[in-house]
Amino acid sequence: MILDILYATQTGNAETVAKKLQLLAKNQGFNVNLVEMNYHNINTFRQLRNVAIVTSTYGNGEVPDMGIDFWEELKSSKVEMTNLRYGLIALGDKSHEIFCGAGKAISKKLDELKCTKVIQNLECDGDTEGTYEWSIKFLEKLKIKAYYNDKV
Ligand SMILES: Cc1cc2nc3c(=O)[nH]c(=O)nc-3n(C[C@H](O)[C@H](O)[C@H](O)COP(=O)(O)O)c2cc1C
Repeated sequence: MILDILYATQTGNAETVAKKLQLLAKNQGFNVNLVEMNYHNINTFRQLRNVAIVTSTYGNGEVPDMGIDFWEELKSSKVEMTNLRYGLIALGDKSHEIFCGAGKAISKKLDELKCTKVIQNLECDGDTEGTYEWSIKFLEKLKIKAYYNDKV
């Protein structure tokens, strides 16, 4: 099964989390593509089936630079993506007014476009705690969902 991991980071935390998820997924036999978020545009993105997004938040609740072009396109998209399953890790810090704003905004938009949320988003406050456990659960749920959805 192919898993596409998209990450957006400013100082490296989201990249580290994304790479750990990549390793776990590879060990479980997934075929993994790990890319910076801006690698995709809306047309390439909507062709994906199994997606993990790992993003931090910068500025005032904004997506980091390496994801901003993708986000601008996604934000204005109206194309439904019912075949796309996703899980999302948002890194942020509660000392900022708009906690995990980037992750929350991306997830809200994906839900509007009718993507399937495989697992509840993980929101990290000031560190990356919980990302390992989330990653294990995400891969488990993804396999089950993909098995049943692709069978019918
Ligand atoms: C200048 C700056 C702005 C930030 N703005 C926000 C914010 O608006 N909301 C939030 O939840 N966290 C914010 N953060 C916290 C980062 O998202 C958090 O430290 C995260 O772990 C960084 O991950 P990264 O290394 O992948 O970029 C900000 C951090 C900095 C340094």
